[in-house]
Amino acid sequence: MHSVLFVLVSTCLLHSANAWNNGLQKTPAMGFNTWNRFQCNIDEDLIRQTAVQMKDLGFLDAGYDFINIDDCWLLKDRDASGSLVTDPDKFPSGLKNLTEFLHGLGFKAGIYEDLGLTTCAGFAGSLNHELTDARLFVDLGFDYAKIDDCNSGSFSGTNPERFQRWTDATTQIQQETGKMLFYSFVEWQSFDAWTWGPPIANSWRIYDDIQPNWGRITAILNNASFIGDFSNFWGHNDLDMLENGNGELTLAEQRSHFTAWALTKSPLLIGTDISSLSQDSIDILLNPEIIAINQDTQIGEPLKPFFWGKNPDGTWDPMFPAQYWSGFSQDKQHTAIMYINFNDRTVDLNFTFAHSPHLQADKKYAIRDLWKHEDIGVFSDFFFDGSIPSHDARVYIFTEQT
Ligand code: GLA
Repeated sequence: MHSVLFVLVSTCLLHSANAWNNGLQKTPAMGFNTWNRFQCNIDEDLIRQTAVQMKDLGFLDAGYDFINIDDCWLLKDRDASGSLVTDPDKFPSGLKNLTEFLHGLGFKAGIYEDLGLTTCAGFAGSLNHELTDARLFVDLGFDYAKIDDCNSGSFSGTNPERFQRWTDATTQIQQETGKMLFYSFVEWQSFDAWTWGPPIANSWRIYDDIQPNWGRITAILNNASFIGDFSNFWGHNDLDMLENGNGELTLAEQRSHFTAWALTKSPLLIGTDISSLSQDSIDILLNPEIIAINQDTQIGEPLKPFFWGKNPDGTWDPMFPAQYWSGFSQDKQHTAIMYINFNDRTVDLNFTFAHSPHLQADKKYAIRDLWKHEDIGVFSDFFFDGSIPSHDARVYIFTEQT
């Protein structure tokens, strides 16, 4: 047992020491991204309106401080000097003007490019232009770059070598300008970025594109459940942009989606039309007690599964991932517990303290429910809660009693 613990602890130390600390985002990035809801139907009015609404609705104050433009902001060809060209129909006032507007409101600004010959939507890619493009993004006032991996087959090299190009470019531009870009990437060739991403980037996608349906959310979470050891301060597994407010996701599913992304310490980038979000959906995204765990500056490790529930522990099941997850919160006297009900019916939950590596079997804990915002009592040995609706989530903070 001790040797298992030693391996676990040393693995975590190794991974956090291994992360690329470029001074940006010790905790996961939060904000907005255009892609999930708008794809290529973007323009400067949308960005301006979204930013104003996010500020008015309290998203900025809650920590959502990036406004990120995804694919389709640019033209298919570079100009005569080799520079990327902003689409003048979509952004007639120019991107510099737009980032100044965003900064004036208190936001940071993000932009998208691709490692290959073209972006996924077919616009000019950055292959062999990384330095020019990183310099342009800094000149235009951007703070964040998302680098995609479509149409990059013509560049041979290992994955770390391919993505290192943007690590080098952003580092060199920082030496020239003093400005560092947050570097997030999407890798499409082998989906193992967590094993080599930490030393070269701030965050890395772990799976295929998200969709606004429950099956895709459970598939991504199943993948994340096995790779929590690779995410920590300064470098985060990216489960993809949020789908809250999109498609057919019920409120229970939106709660579970947000809870799972926040507690696995994924970036939290809202991907919907802010102007049509219901108040219930807004309240989910603004839950301060859940955001506090995502943005915990004392504990960088994500929650990890300790008990699969219906399936035997360790089961790979994209439709029915691990149900019981735990991790420390703020310090080792506070433990966050997450439960998600993947069943199609209402169920009760229960587990023994001895099962979680983040609880002590012989201690009593005062328990708070972070979705009901209620203290629910002091428990010892085991915990029980009743009537968890289908596809809904519960989060509790267990505070050790001395
Ligand atoms: C890929 C990425 C998405 C989005 C699109 C844009 O599919 O995974 O997040 O950036 O490209 O074309």
